[in-house]
Amino acid sequence: MKVVNTINEVRETVKAWRKQGLTVGLVPTMGYLHEGHASLIARASKENDRVVVSDFVNPIQFAPNEDLASYPRDIDRDAKVCEENGADIIFHPTPEEMYHKDFSTFVNITGPSEELCGKSRPIHFRGVCTVVSKLFLIVSPDRAYFGQKDAQQLAVIKRMVRDLNFDIEIVGCPIIREADGLAKSSRNTYLSPEERKAAVILHKALEKGKELVLNGEKSAKVIIDTVTQVINSEPLAIIDYVQVVDFPNIKVVEDINGDILTAVAVYIGKTRLIDNFIIENGKEK
Ligand code: PAJ
Repeated sequence: MKVVNTINEVRETVKAWRKQGLTVGLVPTMGYLHEGHASLIARASKENDRVVVSDFVNPIQFAPNEDLASYPRDIDRDAKVCEENGADIIFHPTPEEMYHKDFSTFVNITGPSEELCGKSRPIHFRGVCTVVSKLFLIVSPDRAYFGQKDAQQLAVIKRMVRDLNFDIEIVGCPIIREADGLAKSSRNTYLSPEERKAAVILHKALEKGKELVLNGEKSAKVIIDTVTQVINSEPLAIIDYVQVVDFPNIKVVEDINGDILTAVAVYIGKTRLIDNFIIENGKEK
């Protein structure tokens, strides 16, 4: 396993693999890897001959008031996680390597990026789609792996791949959780012990909402009100959004007919956490 810092070296390495007829999987990450990332890497390594993990805190997907500077970073620890889960290289570029000083080309996606996190973080998905496109062009993988933890991101990437004809299979992977149900996230490291306990409310609330949907509730408002009420029972929780949308189009729905995503974003203290569930063909995905 090798840490690679330059675009050229990644390209040369992948070219050599291609000459040998090997398949390549890509796992894009912002590092500070946990078991959620590890599950993606392990899956990629099962399904491809070689695996590239990108480890890059992408500045253009953070707004000026967000946590770019404080986002946790530890490349040595990340290298161990990658090695243990079968990755072949970590691509760990500097911001200067990825973005020329007068960089001015962006992938701007409408549609599924407009609701949910797109409302609270207006430049976020433009930054995600731009960096993921660059990674797709640098690595040219056969498959790329994304977690359902960021369900809207997964829908947005699938739409982008379809619309721009990237010849890459997008593989969605299930949410990995802590023992008490909190979805694993690099941002969980921001939580104080008291906030950490409070953070489980996202999962608790979504479990309640999921139970209602699985028992046949058809009103999105009832789901939203129930989930909101449970979250509001936790004094440390401040809701950013609770929403029900169709999946994978990410359009707000009033009646639950087809496949839906119920998504929440909640501040626990200063830390913004997201979580969700998807119901597909009447069953949890
Ligand atoms: P990051 O938050 O590091 O997440 C990288 C990948 O890991 C994403 O596909 C995310 O959905 C997945 N992931 C995170 N937590 C998970 C969990 N608990 N269970 C399963 N999968 C999980 O998402 C990003 O980085 C960036 O936006 C990126 C796509 C790399 C572009 O910069």
